Amino acid sequence: MTLNRNIGPFSTTAVGLGEMGLTIEGYPSHELALETIHAGLDAGCRMIDTAWAYYAPGEEEQTGEKLTREALQTWHGPREDVLVATKIGLRRDFDESGKPIWPRDGKPEHLIAYGKQSVQALGVDAIDLLYMHRHDPEVPYNESIEAVRELLDQGVARYAGVSNVTIEQLDVARGILGDRLIAVQNQFSPVHLETRDVLDYCARLGLAFVCWSPLGGFRHPYDDHLFDPFRKVAAARGVSYQQVTLAWELAQGDHMFVIPGCHRPATFLDSFKAGDLELTAEELAQLSA
Ligand SMILES: NC(=O)c1ccc[n+]([C@@H]2O[C@H](COP(=O)([O-])OP(=O)(O)OC[C@H]3O[C@@H](n4cnc5c(N)ncnc54)[C@H](OP(=O)(O)O)[C@@H]3O)[C@@H](O)[C@H]2O)c1
Repeated sequence: MTLNRNIGPFSTTAVGLGEMGLTIEGYPSHELALETIHAGLDAGCRMIDTAWAYYAPGEEEQTGEKLTREALQTWHGPREDVLVATKIGLRRDFDESGKPIWPRDGKPEHLIAYGKQSVQALGVDAIDLLYMHRHDPEVPYNESIEAVRELLDQGVARYAGVSNVTIEQLDVARGILGDRLIAVQNQFSPVHLETRDVLDYCARLGLAFVCWSPLGGFRHPYDDHLFDPFRKVAAARGVSYQQVTLAWELAQGDHMFVIPGCHRPATFLDSFKAGDLELTAEELAQLSA
């Protein structure tokens, strides 16, 4: 039994596939990337999370959206059942030391152009769920969100979300987008608990909360010991600690979603099983301690 939940009017799987690792630096071969998405869809996953900015700096833009399109076009299952979410407002570049970075671009006219490029790259009539990726401090947040509203009004996207937001920014977005705002995507995991206030606020508002980097992120810039309690529960259950971690995140409320990343089918297939893993009250208490 796959765990399904509602994001606005969409019923979809609580575990979605985070596409980023398949197209940013460190990406696998194109064949393996397609195989990974197909394996997830074949297992029953019905949400893919990508972004305009999922490409390696210096390479072709929007490769994540293009990969998503190709994966769906070459998949033999019910394409119309898959919720595709993308994001606009970031680009890729290198800093002076050659390190890849994510420059922000929230200028309204640019956002309108990015949204139109996203719908094209995804090869859809309209984007199911379009997030404003991250606030650009050079542009008042309301002006960026008004551009997202314009994209909804033009039919480029059906519903909107906001990502990397504070409660104050979420309130600005709610004021402009009304009930067409259906989701918030913030970082949340045992090693990144900072946005619990937004998570709780979303529960009160009835908005979906989608955890990004739900396993801490594939670059591991965190204290790995924080996963020890999850390893303990996992050992007793005979499952991976990643599954326990994702199940714990999903147990934070019925509005919770996770989008684990992956570079190969095996990791996503294991993560996807978290939707079937119901933790007991005792285990949850152990993990919250
Ligand atoms: N909104 C935003 O600003 C934002 C920012 C960052 C990420 N995101 C979204 O969040 C998604 C996930 O983030 P992420 O990829 O950084 O981090 P993540 O999901 O926390 O971690 C991914 C890493 O965990 C490993 N993994 C996943 N499931 C596993 C399992 N069951 N067993 C063992 N290892 C497992 C993967 O291994 P392998 O590499 O071996 O497959 C990968 O290296 C992204 O794809 C993207 O869609 C959004």
